[in-house]
Amino acid sequence: MSNMNLYDTIPNNVNLSDDKKLKRALEKWLPDFQSWWMDMGPEGFQANDVYLRTAIDVDPKGWAHFDHVKMPDYRWGIFLAAQEKDRKIGFGDHMGKPVWQEVPGEYRGMLRRLIVTQADTEPASVEQQRLLGQTCPSLYDLRNLFQVNVEEGRHLWAMVYLLHGYFGRDGREEAEALLARRSGNPDKPRILGAFNEPIEDWLSFFMFTMFTDRDGKYQLLALAESGFDPLSRTTRFMLTEEAHHMFVGETGVGRVVERTAQLMKEGNDDVRKAGGVDLPLIQKYLNLWFTLSLDLFGGEVSSNAADFFASGLKGRQKEDRLDEHTALDQYYNLNVFRDGKRTMEEVPLRNALNEVLRDSYVDDCQRGVDRWNKTLEEHGINFELKLPHRSFHRHIGEFANVHFDPEGNFLSDEEWDKRKDEFLPSEEDKVFVKSLMHAVREPGKIANWIAPPKRGINGQPFEFEYVRLS
Ligand SMILES: [Fe+2]
Ligand SMILES: [Fe+2]
Repeated sequence: MSNMNLYDTIPNNVNLSDDKKLKRALEKWLPDFQSWWMDMGPEGFQANDVYLRTAIDVDPKGWAHFDHVKMPDYRWGIFLAAQEKDRKIGFGDHMGKPVWQEVPGEYRGMLRRLIVTQADTEPASVEQQRLLGQTCPSLYDLRNLFQVNVEEGRHLWAMVYLLHGYFGRDGREEAEALLARRSGNPDKPRILGAFNEPIEDWLSFFMFTMFTDRDGKYQLLALAESGFDPLSRTTRFMLTEEAHHMFVGETGVGRVVERTAQLMKEGNDDVRKAGGVDLPLIQKYLNLWFTLSLDLFGGEVSSNAADFFASGLKGRQKEDRLDEHTALDQYYNLNVFRDGKRTMEEVPLRNALNEVLRDSYVDDCQRGVDRWNKTLEEHGINFELKLPHRSFHRHIGEFANVHFDPEGNFLSDEEWDKRKDEFLPSEEDKVFVKSLMHAVREPGKIANWIAPPKRGINGQPFEFEYVRLS
C-alpha cells in the first residue's frame, strides 16, 4: 500500500497533511470545484446512488473497489503513481540527467502551458456530457457515463494539484480559470476545438469516448515520459483511469454496430424505420469525431512540439521502446498538399513529433474499427467501416482550409459544400439520431438501437441496478 489518505477532506497519497500551505490552497479551491460540479456536472442525478469504481490505492489491487455512492461523495483527490527511484530524463537535450522534482525555471512557462492545456479538457468533457443522463439507453450505460464523468473530475484534481503545488500564484489563477471557462461558450470557451463541440446524443458520446478520449491517452502517454517527475507520476495514474473511457467508447459503438447488424439480418431494408442507426450514418459520426480528434494533436510541423521534446517536458509514447532518444539528425517524411497536389516533404524529426504521436493514435483507432468490422463480418454483412483519410475535414495543420473527401481526393469549396452531407452528419441525420434517444431506466431493459453489453460491470449481471433512481 502506498500512503493513501482516502478519508481526508482531500483524499491523497502525497502526504498532503505535511504541506500546510498547499493543503490550505487546495481546501480553498475545493468548494469552487464542488459548486462547478453541481452546476456543470451530470444534471438531475446528483442525489442518486451510482455503482462506481473508486480508487482506494494506486496499485492494481486498489482498483477493485466498487460501491453505490452519490456522485458528490466520490473520492476525488490526488493520486500519483509511486516514485521511481533514481529516475532519469529519457529523451531530449537533458537526457540521462536526474528528473526534476521542482519546476525547472527556464521551462516554467512551457510546462504551465502543457499542464493547463491538458487540464482544460477534463472539466470540458463533463460539461459536454452533462445532459446525456436524461436519454440513457440503459442503467448500465448511465452508470458508465457517470463513471467517466467522475474520473474526468478527478483528472482535473490531478492537474490542479500540479498547478497549486508547483506554480505559486499563477498556478492558483490558472486553477480558478479552469472552473470559469465553459465548453461551447463563445465568450469563455474551452481551449481546444473538440472540447467545445456539443455531445447531445449517445452515438456522439460513444464516438467521443472512442476517439477523443483516445487522443487523451496519447497525450498522457507522452506526458508520462516527462522529465518533470510529478507530471509523469500524475499522468501515469490517470492512464489507468483513461482505459475505462475508451472501453466505454469502443464497446458502445460496437454494440450499436451489433444491433444494426441484427436489424439488417431480420430483413429490415430500412434500418432507420426499424429504429436503428444505419451503417452509413455510423460512418458519418465516425468521420466527424475521428477528425475532430486528429486536430487535437496539433500541426504536423510544430516548433512547439520540438521545444517540448528538446526540453524533456513531453516525450514520445513509450520512449523506452525506441532505440534513439534525441530525435536529432533524423527526418520524417510528411504527406503534404502543395500547389494543388499531394507530395512528400522531409521534416526534421523533432518538428514532426505531433505527427509521430498521431501515427500511433491512428493505428490504435484502426484496431478498434477492425473489431467493429469483424462484428459485421460475423453477421455476413458486406460493409466496412473506415477511418477517413488524414486530410479529410481538418481544421489545424497542413490540410486546414482545403477540402478533401474521406478517400483524400481534393474537392473545390463548391464541391465540398455540395457534398459534405454525404460525409458528415447532416442536420437531418442529427435530428434522426436524437429522435432515437429515449431514456430506458428499468434494470435489464435496453433501447432498441443498441445491443446489450456482453457482460456487466465487476461481474454483476446486466440486470443489476447500476443506478438507483428511487
Ligand atoms: Fe481525462
Ligand atoms: Fe477520459
